[in-house]
Amino acid sequence: MTVLEVFGEAPVEEPAPAVIELAALTRAFPGDPPVEALHAADLRIERGEYVSIIGPSGSGKSTLLHILGLLDRPTSGEYLLDGVPTGTASERERSALRGGRIGFVFQAFHLLPHRSVLDNVMLATLYSGVPRAERRDRALEALDRVHLSHRTGFLPTVLSGGERQRVAVARAVVASPRVLLADEPTGNLDTTNSAGVLDLFDELHADGLTLVVITHDPAVSARAQRRVRISDGTLTELA
Ligand SMILES: Nc1ncnc2c1ncn2[C@@H]1O[C@H](COP(=O)(O)OP(=O)(O)OP(=O)(O)O)[C@@H](O)[C@H]1O
Ligand SMILES: [Mg+2]
Repeated sequence: MTVLEVFGEAPVEEPAPAVIELAALTRAFPGDPPVEALHAADLRIERGEYVSIIGPSGSGKSTLLHILGLLDRPTSGEYLLDGVPTGTASERERSALRGGRIGFVFQAFHLLPHRSVLDNVMLATLYSGVPRAERRDRALEALDRVHLSHRTGFLPTVLSGGERQRVAVARAVVASPRVLLADEPTGNLDTTNSAGVLDLFDELHADGLTLVVITHDPAVSARAQRRVRISDGTLTELA
């Protein structure tokens, strides 16, 4: 029995790790001259936060997203995802981490045009080891979360842009990731469809999902609970 238990207090528990923790992270691209696209970035994102990262073209947004999504490695510095150091992980381990803990949403949707909405979402769990019937149930549940239960049998090609992006969001959340990473998620959408996607992000945030939205659009950035600016590869917290 510990001293704390003797006095009737719960033992001190380890705090949950940050979902994302970057320490002095740099990404340089070789060239003449070389480009330092990320410069000693420090960033800590806790579970349940909704963070936007805003910056102009060429400021390093995609570079940062690729590193956060384990699609690229930093030149130096540390990236811990959910407390797991990713720098020393093998490609196979990184791929497993990516599949299990990260959901992606891109500007261009990237849906398979000849597969139904339901199939598009189910394909995200193809290699999860989960039985097909269960995968189908989870996909239907994810489509319900994005308010597309009435479109499961449609092909993406007949959907509106906003509906397509909501399918992409369902695909991103179907495997219950720790974090949703979105790169210009409303970049191809008109105002009405953008509003639908941003409303959906609010709902997912309210459900406890951690969201990181990368954008050059101040209106999109303003919707987040916390805003970070990126300028020439340097991150600054906005008030
Ligand atoms: N593979 C690469 N090789 C060399 N330079 C690169 C490479 N990728 C990106 N860069 C440079 O790094 C900087 C940041 O690029 P990045 O794509 O991250 O910008 P961005 O903020 O996403 O811009 P945009 O809003 O136009 O998408 C740019 O100056 C770019 O030219
Ligand atoms: Mg970019």
